[in-house]
Amino acid sequence: MSDKQSLEGEVFYPSPEVIEQARIKDWEAVARRAEADLEGFWAQEAAELEWYQRWEKVLDDSNKPFFRWFAGAKTNIVHNALDRHQKTYRKNKLSLVWVGEKGEVRTYSYFALNRDVCKFANVLKAMGVKKGDRVTIYMPRIPEIVIAMLATAKVGAVHSVVYGGFSVDALQGRIEDSESKVVVTADGGFMNGKVVELKKTVDEAVRRCPTVETVITVQRTHHEIRMEPGRDYWYHELMKLPLASGHCATEVMDASDPLYILYTSGTTGQPKGIIHAHGGYMVGVYSTLKYVFDLKDEDRWWCAADPGWVTGHSYIVYGPLLMGATTFMYEGAPTYPYPNRWWSLVEKYGITVLYTAPTAIRGLMRFGESWPNRHDLSSLRLLGSVGEPINPEAWRWYHRVIGKGRCPIMDTWWQTETGMFMITPTPSVPLKPGSGTRPFFGQKAEILDDQGNPVPDGEEGYLVLRNPWPAMMTTIFKDPDRMVKQYWSKYPGKYQAGDAAKRDKDGYFWIIGRTDDVIKVSGYRLGTAEIESALVAHPAIAEAAVIGLPHEVKGQSIHCYCLLRQGFKPSEDLADEVKNHVAQHMGPIVRPEKVVFVESLPKTRSGKIMRRVLKARAQGLPEGDVSTLEE
Ligand code: PRX
Repeated sequence: MSDKQSLEGEVFYPSPEVIEQARIKDWEAVARRAEADLEGFWAQEAAELEWYQRWEKVLDDSNKPFFRWFAGAKTNIVHNALDRHQKTYRKNKLSLVWVGEKGEVRTYSYFALNRDVCKFANVLKAMGVKKGDRVTIYMPRIPEIVIAMLATAKVGAVHSVVYGGFSVDALQGRIEDSESKVVVTADGGFMNGKVVELKKTVDEAVRRCPTVETVITVQRTHHEIRMEPGRDYWYHELMKLPLASGHCATEVMDASDPLYILYTSGTTGQPKGIIHAHGGYMVGVYSTLKYVFDLKDEDRWWCAADPGWVTGHSYIVYGPLLMGATTFMYEGAPTYPYPNRWWSLVEKYGITVLYTAPTAIRGLMRFGESWPNRHDLSSLRLLGSVGEPINPEAWRWYHRVIGKGRCPIMDTWWQTETGMFMITPTPSVPLKPGSGTRPFFGQKAEILDDQGNPVPDGEEGYLVLRNPWPAMMTTIFKDPDRMVKQYWSKYPGKYQAGDAAKRDKDGYFWIIGRTDDVIKVSGYRLGTAEIESALVAHPAIAEAAVIGLPHEVKGQSIHCYCLLRQGFKPSEDLADEVKNHVAQHMGPIVRPEKVVFVESLPKTRSGKIMRRVLKARAQGLPEGDVSTLEE
């Protein structure tokens, strides 16, 4: 990188205090070391964790792109997240501080979290859950979601967490694909002062999923739900049984054994089951959290995502526990009951590092500075952003109003598939609002054109990663070919991320957005094809096309273009009904912003809907190359 003077554009340099505190003062030196010896770099990181048996090879690349990290090693991520801390002072340290939307507080020491995880692991075993079995977890943001994930991993089973904001169709599809035997849920969750019906949704979904034998329900909202004898059990009753003892051996796993499936949207209607494995994933999330957010023993870390997304998996659950850190979790909405809720939590619980999404920042920014200014935010030392490009205006507000100009913002670019941060600063790196700066240690990114040639600096192209990294997905559940086709085929030997991006003269990367049919609504990753299938399931709709259009707060919002079946007339009421239909089937986060009834859809001669053309038309932009358009 160029020296301090020659960086172009708006640059924020770290203060001497920030550099003084930073674990890495000389970024270039570490980057050079990792570049010179990728395996050596990662071996050193891995050596900071415990293994039942050491690896034979750091990186086995004999079957690309199915890279095997720490081949031959034996471990279990839970051993490093919980077991090993029981031998140190961390046994008595807080692992989790949880606050409910109504203000209840629960705290867990590392000892207590381990005890409850052991108890629930024994329950899962009693329910017949064995190594390799899948367990679906569909829960609100409460400590039991963390316990359920860790207990599943502890017994060697594979968790598949489905975000609690999804509804019946999305849940059913994910349970079915994973062939889960057990579903762990709650009676409901609290969000914005209302009850979210989780168990009811599970009942509907499970009715159509023959693999499910057992449903375990945590009591959270205490409202009335149906319990089916022989299938449904209360969590609190099971945890009282003698079989739920506080001791349970952690299953010994191969480093490449699956830890979890996380479904994510792609180009087709069927979400992909991304698989992450115990060994490499563990090293990748541990090391990125350590270097990027520089977590120290005295920190109070708050990743405000939901455990149901990869951000929560890596940086609410696994990363902080691997580091022996104290992690904070808040159940409810950021504006409940008032728009100062988050800031009051930062003050009251002394949060030192806050990691959230641009959509949340923009959402809170709308209410003005007086809400955060009522609180003492001086405990904060670092901020973070993830999930979508952060617009410089929101970056500056976050930096000035929340960070008081003192706290560097770590804008981390990564994906469900990458498992860990890929393009990100560390605290001592000069920042440019809107850029995630440069690739993490050991990684090289490129911007290529369609043919695979590098595009000149400053021009837009496809973002590609050149080197393997430890937390990379190991496969797609039941569909390994799809992994090869989707990520490793366009540019042989390189990982195609699916994002458009630019690189500037200083080597800083600027993410523009997805190049496929994936849209980002409030940071949530949604597939247009999945929404289209929900639309055509409505009796009035014959055909539908979905696009994402820019939205001031959400980043993108869902716009649907629908052809009506004969006998149906367009009306406002029908549009509302269609919106409700999608929200009911897919979940409230998938509620369309706009439903437009049209006479025809732009298609290629082979019948493929040209969403790109719809998008251009909606924004009054040039339609680009329309030579294949049928009309
Ligand atoms: O488009 C990029 C965007 O989110 C996509 C990955 O979504 P998901 O798998 O849900 O994971 C989100 C959390 C890691 C990427 O392809 N994205 C993620 N982080 C950023 C981002 N875009 C710009 N800047 C980021 N920091």
